[in-house]
Amino acid sequence: MTETASIARPDLAGKITYDPLDSKVTSNPYPHYAQLREVAPVHWIDSMKGFVVSRWDDVIQVLQDGKTFSSAQFWPELLGEYDPVPEVPPMISMDPPGHMRTRKLANKAFVPSRVGALNDKIRRVANELIDDIIAKHGKEGEFDFVWEFSALFPVSVIADVLGVDIERRVDFKHWVDDLLSAGNRAAYGPERLAAIAKTSKDIRAYFEDVYERRAANPGDDLISGFILAEVNGERLTKSEVLSMAILLLIGGVETTTNLLSITFTHMKRLPGLQEAVRANPEKIPQMFEEMLRYDGPVQMLFRHTTCDTVLNDVAIPKNTLVMLLLGSANHDERKFEHSEEFDLERNPSEIMSFGQGPHFCLGSYLSRMEARTAVEILLERFEDLMPISGEPEWMDSYFARGPKGLQVRFKAR
Ligand code: HEM
Repeated sequence: MTETASIARPDLAGKITYDPLDSKVTSNPYPHYAQLREVAPVHWIDSMKGFVVSRWDDVIQVLQDGKTFSSAQFWPELLGEYDPVPEVPPMISMDPPGHMRTRKLANKAFVPSRVGALNDKIRRVANELIDDIIAKHGKEGEFDFVWEFSALFPVSVIADVLGVDIERRVDFKHWVDDLLSAGNRAAYGPERLAAIAKTSKDIRAYFEDVYERRAANPGDDLISGFILAEVNGERLTKSEVLSMAILLLIGGVETTTNLLSITFTHMKRLPGLQEAVRANPEKIPQMFEEMLRYDGPVQMLFRHTTCDTVLNDVAIPKNTLVMLLLGSANHDERKFEHSEEFDLERNPSEIMSFGQGPHFCLGSYLSRMEARTAVEILLERFEDLMPISGEPEWMDSYFARGPKGLQVRFKAR
C-alpha cells in the first residue's frame, strides 16, 4: 500500500465530510457523496488509505479498465484475515485470464433460461413466507419485514440452487451480515473481531461438509455441478468450489434482501409510491430500476492500481486502493436530471448498481426477477403493508446498504 505522504492531492483537509468508517455517514451517505462530486471527485480518504471516486464517468472509466485497475485485492481489502477461503481468490477478486475461465463456468448456471425456470420456486417461497407470517401474527398486525420476509426469501432461492440446507437460512443471513461487516474491522474492538473470526470458520466448516457430501453423492445442484465441471480439461479444486459457493451465497443473500427492504423503507418515505404500483403493477420493474439507482444495495467496489496513473487530474500511484462509490455515481447530476429525487417515471437506461465491464453482476437477472415477483405477491396478498417508520437503523457497512430491521403494519386479504 502506498504511503499517504507520497501522494499529491489537493488540500481539502477539514472540508470533506465523507468517512466510510463513520456510521452516521453510512446511514445517509448521499449528502456526503454530493459534496465529494462537487469538490473532490477523486479524493484521498485517510481512514481507508485509498482514493474514493464519486462521479459517473470516472467510475465507468475505472470499471472498464481492468488492466490499470485490478480486482485482485477486492476480497482481501473487504474481508482481510476473515476470508473463509483465503488460499484462492473468488471470481469477483480475479483478473483476466483466470477470471474469464471461472466466469464462463458460472455464466452457464445464470443464463436467463435457467433462471426463468426458477419462477415457480420463487413464487412458492414468497407465498410460503407470507403463510408463515399470517400463521404467526394473524390476518392483521405488525411484523419485521427484514427478518420475517426479505432476509428469508432470496436465501431460500439460492439455498435451493446451490443445494444447501434451507433450514439453516437464518444462519446464512447472520453469517453473511457478519462477514461483510469485516469491511469495517478497523473500527471494531477485540470482541466483535472474535465474533467475525468465528463466523468465518463456521462458514468454511459448513461448506466443507457440503462439499464432502456432494463429492460422495452428487445431485443436480450447483455445488455438485462445480465439483464435476471441467474447464480446459481440469476440474476445479476443492478450495475453488468453496470460494465460488460462498461468493454466490453472499451475492445471492445480501443484495436482493436489501433491495426489497430498502424499497419498503422508501414506501413510507415516498408518499404515493405504493399506491402507484398497486394501481399499475406493470410499473413494478421500473420502480426497481429507479430504486436501484436511488438507493442501491451495493455502495462501493474496490480496485487497486497496477501502475502509476491519472484519474480526473489526480495522480494515483501504483498499488493504491481505489474505491468506487456506485451510489454516488447513480446520483451524479451530470448523468441524471434532479438526480437526488426518486422518480417512478424516470426509467433510467443505465444504472451503476450492478457494476459495469467484465465483473458485471452475475445475478442481476435473478435478483430482478426475485424482487419483482416478491412485490407482486406481497401486494396481492396484503391489502395494507406499510413500515411503521421510514427511519430504520441501517446496516453497519459502507459496502452493503440496507435496514437492519423494518417493522411493518399489515392487513392480509
Ligand atoms: C440487487 C441485487 C444485486 C446487486 C445490487 C448486485 C451488485 C453487484 C455488483 C455491483 C457487482 C460487480 C462487482 C465488481 O465489479 O467488482 C456484482 C458482481 C457479482 N454478483 Fe451481484 N448483485 C446483486 C445480486 C446478485 C445475486 C442474486 C447473485 C447471485 C446469485 C450475485 C452474484 C454476483 C457475482 C458472483 C458477482 C461477481 C461477478 C464477477 O466477478 O464476474 N449478485 N454484483
